[in-house]
Amino acid sequence: MTKRANGGRPIDAVPASSEAATASTVKAGPLPNPDRASMRYLSPLRYPGAKSGIARCIAELIKANAKKPPFFLEPFAGGAATTLRLLADGIVSHAIIGDADPLVANFWITAATRPEWLVDRMIDEPVTLDRWDYWRAYEQKSPDDPELAVKCLFLNRTTFSGILHGRAGPIGGRKQESDYAIGCRFNKDALAERIRFVGDLYRSGRLVAAWRGEWQQTLKLFGEQFPEYAASGDVVVYLDPPYVDKADRLYTAEYAAFNHLQLAAQLLHHVPYRWVLSYDDHADIRALYQAKTVQPHSPGVRQWRVQKRLVELRYSASGRTGRGPKDELVITTLPKFPDDASFRAVEI
Ligand SMILES: C[S@@+](CC[C@H](N)C(=O)[O-])C[C@H]1O[C@@H](n2cnc3c(N)ncnc32)[C@H](O)[C@@H]1O
Repeated sequence: MTKRANGGRPIDAVPASSEAATASTVKAGPLPNPDRASMRYLSPLRYPGAKSGIARCIAELIKANAKKPPFFLEPFAGGAATTLRLLADGIVSHAIIGDADPLVANFWITAATRPEWLVDRMIDEPVTLDRWDYWRAYEQKSPDDPELAVKCLFLNRTTFSGILHGRAGPIGGRKQESDYAIGCRFNKDALAERIRFVGDLYRSGRLVAAWRGEWQQTLKLFGEQFPEYAASGDVVVYLDPPYVDKADRLYTAEYAAFNHLQLAAQLLHHVPYRWVLSYDDHADIRALYQAKTVQPHSPGVRQWRVQKRLVELRYSASGRTGRGPKDELVITTLPKFPDDASFRAVEI
């Protein structure tokens, strides 16, 4: 693993524990191409059930609370649209993203560290049914096989609802008879700019790392590698875990069995950082987050209040419950809500 010239941390799949001993802080330099930060869509990936509007809510929440832009962690990165937007707008100073899915994690690692390689690879890639079959069948050749990033991007942009795993078929179907053909979401110029922007964020030290790992590992590793930030209190964790409903259609079986109980237990008893959790508003989740306060393992902190609000979001990909507005439950230990009618009170 190589060290970065700007003094930042290397980016990699979960690094060896010896890395943890060389903890440091990271400096953010200017963005090489600031115009890219104003692109309407920043993520090269579409995400099943991606919620448009959530980045704005999280931004408002952070602005209402943080004295200065905090370090941001997104351990269920998926399309990482929230992280990218908050970094682009300077709402957060640094970010680390993590995802347990090797395809997704490999994509972010490659986009950050080898953007031009990935852009070239994408531009050379014919967007055809034959290639769709090729990538569906493609098996990883080595632990860090960069072709996985191409597989992730290709399948994400050419499969119904952006679903990477399971039974979903190509956009336009096997016969390609619909108005929407397999390449309809594969605008190579736009994707190239978005990939380059991820590279810009990494080069400038804003996107500090992308990790492949379970959410627990991302939080643990952050504490080990960045103890100065971890102890500073200027950290916000944003968690957008797999949905309670329909997870089996959107993710692999492994993720469908996501342990919501374990996540709640960690957040309510152990996680030492302020956190924001967004969930589909589901009775089981309401039941899990009845607590009014938490006693975090954070030096000098006795307790934090756990607050809940409903926000109305639009879902941009149809994999979950169709488009259209839907209430999202936002649960957080951040103390203040913005003075904004879009955060509605809820009794839990
Ligand atoms: C709801 S999606 C996140 C969507 C993301 N916020 C967006 O806007 O694109 C959940 C993500 O969590 C990942 N994931 C599932 N189980 C995980 C786990 N145990 N630890 C870390 N990531 C996990 C999935 O691979 C998926 O990318």
